[in-house]
Amino acid sequence: MTLDYQFPKDFWWGSAASATQTEGSTNGISGATIWDRWYKEAPNRFFEGVGPDQTSDFYHRYKEDITNMKAIGHNSFRLSISWARLIPGGKGDVNDDAVRFYNEVIDELLNQGIEPFVNLYHFDMPIELQDIGGWENREVIEAYADYAKIAFDLFGDRVKTWFTFNEPIVPVEGGYLYDFHYPNVVDARRAIQVAYNTMIAHARAVKLYHEAQDGKIGIVLNLTPSYPRSQNPADLKAAHICDLFFNRSFLDPAVLGEYPDDLIELLEEHGQLPETKVDDKDLLKNNIIDILGVNYYQPRRVKAKEHLPNPYAPFMPDWFFDNYEMPGRKMNVYRGWEIYEKGIYDIMINLKENYGNIDSFISENGMGVQNEERFIKDGRIEDDYRIDFIKEHLKWLHKAAEEGCNVKGYHLWTFMDNWSWMNAYKNRYGFFSVDLETGERTAKKSAEWIAEVSKQNGFND
Ligand code: BG6
Repeated sequence: MTLDYQFPKDFWWGSAASATQTEGSTNGISGATIWDRWYKEAPNRFFEGVGPDQTSDFYHRYKEDITNMKAIGHNSFRLSISWARLIPGGKGDVNDDAVRFYNEVIDELLNQGIEPFVNLYHFDMPIELQDIGGWENREVIEAYADYAKIAFDLFGDRVKTWFTFNEPIVPVEGGYLYDFHYPNVVDARRAIQVAYNTMIAHARAVKLYHEAQDGKIGIVLNLTPSYPRSQNPADLKAAHICDLFFNRSFLDPAVLGEYPDDLIELLEEHGQLPETKVDDKDLLKNNIIDILGVNYYQPRRVKAKEHLPNPYAPFMPDWFFDNYEMPGRKMNVYRGWEIYEKGIYDIMINLKENYGNIDSFISENGMGVQNEERFIKDGRIEDDYRIDFIKEHLKWLHKAAEEGCNVKGYHLWTFMDNWSWMNAYKNRYGFFSVDLETGERTAKKSAEWIAEVSKQNGFND
């Protein structure tokens, strides 16, 4: 029997999560990160005052969670290692408890037939390294390279798919441009340096991996196709510059090994080029990725600037475009994000045409919903909206695969409802809900649906 949407053989079905958002148990058995510091300093900036100490306790409940993953047909799962847990302080001695914990998680996944995908950095800078400048300081690149090597040596015998960073643009935007991550700086020059140094750290890790290991290594990028309001040259230019800043400043060095010329020219023209070292260019050129994780939630819609920026105001990427709310666009009204399923296809076609058809997969896609309890029926959440959301995205992904894109899988954000940065538990994304009082996990309707899809490697319309 062939299904309407049959996916390529060995397609990865799974989900993604991050250490800070799920593990818990940092107190005393892990070093602190920027999130612990920020929460201490400004608890009121977190939704309902809930901080990173209140997670879904994966640290203690990972066996049950992995059993649940198996039950819903996962054949792969992305977790992140907490740098501050593995090496408290970010440099120096390895924490034996962390080695035990990650070994157990990896072994349990493998025992259940689930391939572990491991990411090294998901927004969680050890606080001691932030205190010496974070990604602005080259010393932190060295510390990260040491950390990466330690992780490869400890777990590389079993983990064959690695990622250096999750969404490196987010700490840049949040921490250095728009004030939604620690250290709450608003300064484009520093943001550009952070973005650049992150990619140098990334290339260092890729190099170390390829020198000593035999699996694949990549990066996870949240690609946001930038659609212009119109075909008018000014709108097209605005969309192009937006794409350069928010997508290509990571995508090009990671996949092609170099920055786009027009990005360099633009930064040069405005005196915003980052500080570099002579060897950086070769490092980037010689250490491109094997696999790309694509996080896709929503596109960007942009138009030409309506008012010219104040020439005395500090440089910002937003000098070159305005956001545009397209009339009639479909929205996830629960989260306030646009839903545009075709974006996933456009991304894949772009990768095929302009990035050597690199092996890729959807490493996050998902639908955050507030107050999901209102959809409970007979004890479980009937999340038909999430099923529709996934299905419509999968249809476009399927089309991309049919047209020859090297798309290898689909991971939902996320496996179970989790704590999320400033939004804490506001938006629920999981296949499983988590009772915040008891920790009890309950499968949502989407969990049952994905189990069937994974088993059949596809679905009928
Ligand atoms: C992704 C991140 O960008 O979006 C996750 O990788 C995050 O860490 C997810 O939780 C959802 O974001 P939010 O703000 O809706 O919880």
